[in-house]
Amino acid sequence: MAQLLTIEDLRLLAKRRVPRMFYDYADSGAWTESTYRANEADFAAIKLRQRVAVDMTNRTLASTMIGEQVSMPVALAPTGIAGMQHADGEILAARAAARAGVPFTLSTMSVCSIEDVAQNTDKPFWFQLYVMRDRAFIERLIDRAKAAGCSALMLTLDLQILGQRHKDIRNGLSAPPKPTIANLINLVFKPRWCMGMLGTKRRSFGNIVGHATGVGDMTSLSAWTAEQFDPTLSWDDVKWIKDRWGGKLILKGILDAEDAELAAQSGADALIVSNHGGRQLDGAVSSIAALPGIVEQVGGRMEVWMDGGVRSGQDVLKAVALGARGVLIGRPFLYGLGAMGEEGVKLALDIIRKEMDITMALCGKRDIQDVDASILVKGKA
Ligand code: GLV
Repeated sequence: MAQLLTIEDLRLLAKRRVPRMFYDYADSGAWTESTYRANEADFAAIKLRQRVAVDMTNRTLASTMIGEQVSMPVALAPTGIAGMQHADGEILAARAAARAGVPFTLSTMSVCSIEDVAQNTDKPFWFQLYVMRDRAFIERLIDRAKAAGCSALMLTLDLQILGQRHKDIRNGLSAPPKPTIANLINLVFKPRWCMGMLGTKRRSFGNIVGHATGVGDMTSLSAWTAEQFDPTLSWDDVKWIKDRWGGKLILKGILDAEDAELAAQSGADALIVSNHGGRQLDGAVSSIAALPGIVEQVGGRMEVWMDGGVRSGQDVLKAVALGARGVLIGRPFLYGLGAMGEEGVKLALDIIRKEMDITMALCGKRDIQDVDASILVKGKA
């Protein structure tokens, strides 16, 4: 096997090993995918200042995110059906994150349930919440996250209605896959994945199946979302959830300064500048382009994090330089997971850490806390 040195290497291996419908699910954006592409392209347009003849010894990337110690300012983003990229995917990713000293976020739409991940890992994780019409179910989900010892709740605000991803429709995305001829032919070429799935019982939406009442066939993510997600979600609901949860709250999916102002007034602990990896509003600005204006608007009232388009440690460093206290990675860890399970997620994190560390040094900095816009070439931010 070729040496795996970059996130792109992991992506190509995942593409070989993961059934097409799940690889495509991770790797696509909404409609024309213009925002998905802009997330990466706008990072590439930002240029770093090369500095020389400065002491580069004793470097540190250690930081905090909402008061939690992190070995670098990176967390694993909540991603739907990670347990379909690889058998037991959420448990494996949570373990890899713990080994790397970074937080893991479990999605509402995960395969392994909250309780299952808690039982099979040692470190508290964060739980991401989608608000559904059935508020009694949401209350139970919040209580379950509390009972499982989750140390923060991440409320996603940008997916009341699902953006259309054409490939998911064409592939007939479902978890588990339906035994159609096309799927069976594809699975013949994915023996590792099939072996893993045969060895686990975790094959559908663990937080929901058996927990939500009145749910019929919920194998299809898009059908379930259209039926169950609450399009009336408002800032009053944010307050209700904050009070019900009572712990650290992170608001995910803010892309506009006006919404950032409301988020800052909500009393949450952090917001995440995000366009859902280009999977929702196609035509929206990239996350990295939106970040500086939101940092300015928030003015230190809460932590500002970002996600979207991060494919390297250089990207993380650029986001930190533009004011992000933390950066979430979704696809990079999913590629690692699909490629090699727990070791692949660990490798994705190791790749990003090494890139960030060396790049920070070449920019003339030794401590991530000292990284600011001075490492960027002016006019490109
Ligand atoms: C969320 O669950 C997504 O598919 O983007």
